[in-house]
Amino acid sequence: AIEIGKLRDVSGLITLDPGYKNTGATKSAITFLDGEEGILRYRGYRIDELSKKSTFLEVAYLLIYGELPTQSQYDAFTKEITLHTLVHEDIKKILAGFPSNAHPMGVLSSLICSLSAFYPDSLNPNQSEEEVNLSIVRLLAKMPTFAAWAFKNKMGHPVNYPDNSLDYCSNFLKMMFALPAETYEADPIVATALDKLLILHADHEQNCSTSTVRMVGSSQASIYASISAGINALWGPLHGGANQSVIEMLEAIKADGGDAKKYLDKAKDKNDPFRLMGFGHRVYKNFDPRAKIIKQAADEVLSRLGVTDPVLEIAKELEYAALNDQYFIDRKLYPNVDFYSGIIYRALGIPTDMFTVMFALGRLPGWIAQWKEMRENKEPIGRPRQVYVGATERDYVFINKR
Ligand code: ACO
Repeated sequence: AIEIGKLRDVSGLITLDPGYKNTGATKSAITFLDGEEGILRYRGYRIDELSKKSTFLEVAYLLIYGELPTQSQYDAFTKEITLHTLVHEDIKKILAGFPSNAHPMGVLSSLICSLSAFYPDSLNPNQSEEEVNLSIVRLLAKMPTFAAWAFKNKMGHPVNYPDNSLDYCSNFLKMMFALPAETYEADPIVATALDKLLILHADHEQNCSTSTVRMVGSSQASIYASISAGINALWGPLHGGANQSVIEMLEAIKADGGDAKKYLDKAKDKNDPFRLMGFGHRVYKNFDPRAKIIKQAADEVLSRLGVTDPVLEIAKELEYAALNDQYFIDRKLYPNVDFYSGIIYRALGIPTDMFTVMFALGRLPGWIAQWKEMRENKEPIGRPRQVYVGATERDYVFINKR
C-alpha cells in the first residue's frame, strides 16, 4: 500500500491507463459482457432472450431490482410509472427558454437536471429506500415526456401531454407525433420495434456515460444530476451520438454520388481523420451481440413497413465492403449496435437528431441500476490520479516583467 501523500515521489507506481482500457472501476452484479465471445447478459439473462420475451419495463425492473418481476410486481411498477408521467407545468417555461434549433440532447439533460429543483428532497444523500424508489419511478415516467417535448420544441409544435391509457412506447410515440386536431394511433409494429430497441440499449456495464453517472453519483450529487451527466456523456459522437453520425455519414456518401468504397478507403487512410461511423467497439472485438439482433429487427421492420430508402442501400454496401476488407478484418472492426439503430429509427420516422435521445431513453434503467448499486455498495468518491508531466517548480514573474 502506498501512502497517498508520498505518491509524487513514487509516481511510477501509479497505473496509467488512458481511456481506462484495462482498469476496473467497480465490482458490479448487473451486466455481464464478454467482448471476445460476443456475450451480453442482464442479471444473468441473455440479451437475445430478453429482447424476444420481455417488455422494456420488465427489463428495467430486472436491471434495477435484480430479478424479473412477478405479474403483481410488474403491474404495480407499471401503474406507479403511469401515475408519474406528467411533469410540473413550470417545466414548460424552461422548455420555452430554449431556441428551437437547440439539440434535443441538451434540452433533455437540462430538463432531467431541473428535477433536482422540483424535487429538492433528492438532494439529501441519506434518502430512505422509499424516497429513492420514488425518484427512480419519476425518472422512468418523465423521461419519455421530456424526450418528446424536446422534439416538439424543435418542431415549434405545442407539446402533447402523456396518455396514460397507453403502454410505455405507444405513449411516447403519441407524444412525439400527434398533432393538434388530428387523431393519432401508434402503429403496433413501430411500438414493438421501439420496445425491443430500448431493451437492447438498456445497460452495457461501465461505458463512458454509465461511468459518468457512477462518478457524479459518488460525490453524493442527486440521482437527477447524475443521470443528467450521463446524458451529456452519451451525447458525444464516439458514444451514443454515433447513431446520428451514422445516418449523417450515409447521407453525405449519397450526396457525394453514393460510392461506399471511396469512404471505406478514406476510413483506412491514416492521414485522414475520417472514421466509418457505426464500426468498431471498445469491448466487442468479435461481434456486438446487440448488432445481430438489431440487424434482424431492422430487416423485419423495413419489410413489414414497406420502407425503401437509398440511404439503406448504401448502408448495406458499406457493411458488405467493410466485412470483406482486410483493414477491418485485421482490426476486428464490425458494425456495432449504432450502425443499425440509426437505420431502424429512420425507418420508424424518428428524426436524425432524436436518435441519441432514443438511446438515452433506452439506457435510463441501466444508469439508474448502476447509480443504485454504487450507492448501496457505499462506494468511495471517484477520484483518479495522474502522472504529472508539466514544469517543475518555477519562480513567479510579475506581469510587467513577462
Ligand atoms: N473506422 C476506421 N478505423 C477505425 C475505426 C473506424 N470506425 N474504429 C477503429 N479504427 C481503427 C483505428 O484507427 C485503430 O487503427 P490502428 O491500429 O491502425 O491505429 C484501430 O482501429 C483501433 O482503434 P481504437 O480507436 O484504438 O479503438 P478504441 O477501442 O479506442 O475505439 C471506438 C472504439 C471509439 C468505438 C472506435 O472504433 C470508433 O471511433 N468507432 C466509430 C464511432 C462509433 O461507431 N462509436 C459507437 C461505439 S458503440 C457505442 O457507444 C454504443
